[in-house]
Parts: sequence; structure tokens; C-alpha cells
Amino acid sequence: MKKAWSGRFKRNSSASAESFTESVSFDSRLWEYDIKGSIAHAKMLARQNIISKKDSARILKGLSAIADEFTSGTFKVRKELEDIHMNIEAALIKKIGPIGMKLHTARSRNDQISLDMRMYLKEETREITALIRKVQKTLLKMSERHLGSIMPGYTHLQRAQPVLLSHHLLAYVEMLQRDVSRFKDCLKRIDVLPLGSCAISGTTLPIDRTYVAKMLGFKQIAGNSIDAVSDRDFMLEFLSCSSMVMMHLSRLSEELILWSTEEFNFIELPDEYTTGSSIMPQKKNPDVPELVRAKTGRVYGNVMSILTLMKGLPLAYNRDLQEDKPPVFDTVDTVKSCLTILCNMLPDIIFHTETMLSSAGTGYTTATDIAEYLVKKNIPFRMAHEITGKIVLYCMDKNIQLHQLNIKQLKAFSPVFRNDILKHLEPAASVRAHSSPGGTATSSVMRQIRKYKKLFNEKSPLR
Ligand code: ARG
Repeated sequence: MKKAWSGRFKRNSSASAESFTESVSFDSRLWEYDIKGSIAHAKMLARQNIISKKDSARILKGLSAIADEFTSGTFKVRKELEDIHMNIEAALIKKIGPIGMKLHTARSRNDQISLDMRMYLKEETREITALIRKVQKTLLKMSERHLGSIMPGYTHLQRAQPVLLSHHLLAYVEMLQRDVSRFKDCLKRIDVLPLGSCAISGTTLPIDRTYVAKMLGFKQIAGNSIDAVSDRDFMLEFLSCSSMVMMHLSRLSEELILWSTEEFNFIELPDEYTTGSSIMPQKKNPDVPELVRAKTGRVYGNVMSILTLMKGLPLAYNRDLQEDKPPVFDTVDTVKSCLTILCNMLPDIIFHTETMLSSAGTGYTTATDIAEYLVKKNIPFRMAHEITGKIVLYCMDKNIQLHQLNIKQLKAFSPVFRNDILKHLEPAASVRAHSSPGGTATSSVMRQIRKYKKLFNEKSPLR
């Protein structure tokens, strides 16, 4: 197979070098963007009289026939043609003859691959944020359904204070909202047109980059051709945003795993999303959340891999940059599959709200409420803390819970206690009283629910 660049070579490349250097086995998934970019480029070349209108029309026809072949699955990629760009160009020349040789005027694969990846990531950012929104909506529905259910909130994985299950679920909605906003911001820097930078220094031909940007829906054109062909910041930002969302999904998964243990028994995961053991007949294992947790590590690895790839790379394009694709594609696939499976599984989780409530009522979770009661009676918080600590110690000694104390016992610790303290000791009362903004009281949780319902109704994630 004659190479597009064979002019200055005396001998052919070895088969082993060809298979070592090829990227079409993984970059062929960019075909659609590559063709769209080429169509815009050919139109611009004709508009600028760099090629004739007639030639441009022939090229466009050829490209759309190639697109049809990809769509119908009949396009045969050839590894000896290196990458997706060369495969499409060779197919074009084969289809329409030597006119096809004009397409690559004022263009290099260096700006072309950056364009393809930017177009690809723009689309994937849209899809990923839409999936995040779906998970958010699912969590929001769950928190509406469980409004009123009380669970123990934890710090250090020790029972801390009673909270609404809805409040806990909405914490994830909030995290995911930050993820959406990070992707939205990242999109601004993806949305820059590199095409027209050519190999490194631009071109002597009278191209119109702004016209190409407009046709392809880019907000800006890259300002420095050397930077444009060697910059992979936009990918790294995308990967960082992806790592962050995976970290959130992993934390959620970890809690689902923990909550489904016999020890917690807060939830039951649906049969459809769990597996059995090949030896222990009683087992029901939380493999789906476990794998989400594990895949998070893969995505982190992908960021590290490209950071390392970039470190110490001299300007401008180096073939090293070809290795950026597998980690990016893997990240996109992983994030999308994790968001999708969680979306499917979450609505079918059964919450054992009775167990949650009874756990919330033990472990002295309303001790802080007692301390704050004392503060309201003008006792400085540090002293109130000390007094309440003594009360807890007393209960532990007597093997009773706080709500089992009577007023006489309490008065022994401080004369300011009145009968009304007794109604502060149940988890439900504690939850009701935590009505500070962002707190766990139903009124405050309802405010969060209303905020997100409004947001989800009004705006698509990237608006
Ligand atoms: N397959 C290459 C990549 O992914 C395309 C750019 C090749 N450029 C070059 N000068 N060999 O980076």
C-alpha cells in the first residue's frame, strides 16, 4: 500500500512498524467528526477560491458516500493506512479520483486530530451531563418518596445525629450539580477550533478559520497555532471532571454496599442488580456498586496517564499524543456505563426505614440537642458540652438511651432542665428542630427539593 507521505522514502515501512504505530483500531470511532470536519474544510477551501466549487462539490459527495459506508458498517478500515484520517482520505481518492487529493490542502493531521477530539468531547460532555441529570432526577424522586424517613447521620462512621434519609440522598444531588457545572465550564475550553493551525505554523494559503468555526459550531478559534496542535489541556480537564463525578458515584456505591450488609441492614439491593456466589448458596452480592467503585480507579488512572504523557513533551505535535485516545475513550465509556447502571438500579432499592429509624434512636444521637437546649438556657456551649457528656456517660453506665431519662435524672446534671427537655430527645424531634438553612428539618429539605425540581424543569444541564 502506497503511503500518502511516501515521496521522500526509499523503502517501505516494515509490517511490524505499521502495526506498532497504527491508531485506526481505536480512533475509527471518530469517523463522523472527521468527516464533518472535512466537509466544513472543503467548503471553506472553495469559498476562499483555494479549490474550485466543482471540486469541492465532488469532495463533499465523496465524503457523504463514505459516511454512508460507515453508517451501514461496510467501510473497511486498513491498519496499514495508520489512522482514521488517512483511511478516509484514501477512500475518498479511490472514490472520486485525484480531486480527492485536494482535500488536505491547508490542513495537517495535527490540527485535524485535535479538531476531531474536541468535536467528540463536546458531544460526549453533552451526553454525560444529560446522564448525570438523570441520576439526579432519580435521587430527587427517591428523596421525595422517603420524605419523613429518619436515619442516623454518621461522622467517622460513628452514629452522629439523626437526619432525614431524603437529606442524605439530596447530598448526592448537590455533588452531582457541581459536577455538571464543572463540565459546563470545561466545555468552554473544549469549544475552541484548532483547524487552520495546520502542522505547527499556520499556512500561506488564504483560509477563513472563522467561517469553519461557524460551520462546525465552535465559539472561538485557537489563537496560537503552536499551542493549538500540542494542547491537550481540554482533555485533561474533561478527565478531571470525569474523575470527580466517578469519585461521587464511588462514594454513593460504597454506602449502598455498606447499607446492604447484614450489619447495617438499611437497604436491600434489587435481585436484578446483584449476583450470587458459586459456592455459598445464601449469598447476594452487591457487584454493581462494587464495580462502580472499582472503575473509579480506572478513570483516575486515565488522568494520570495523560498527565504523564504530556509532562516533558516538547512543543509542538509529537506522536506521543496519539496515546491520548485510549484513556479518553475508556473514560467516556466508563463514566457513561456507571451513570446508566446506577440510574437503572437506584429506583428499585428497598429501604428498611424501620431499621434506619431505630438505629437513629440509639447511640446518643440527640446529645447535641441537649447541649443546644442548655445553650438556650444561657449556659456557655463548652460547659453545655461537658454536662451533656456526663449525661451520656451516665446513660452508658445504666445501659439506657437518652430518651429513657426522666426529668429527675436530668436535673441532677443541671438545674436549668425543665420538662420540655424530654420532647427533645427523640430522633424525630431532633430532625424537626434542625431547621437552619441547609439543615435536615423537613422544611429545609423541602426547600432543597423545590430548588432542584425548578432547576430540572427549567433548564437543560448545560444551559
Ligand atoms: N493518529 C495521529 C494521532 O492520533 C494523528 C496525527 C498524526 N500526525 C502526525 N504528524 N503523524 O495523534
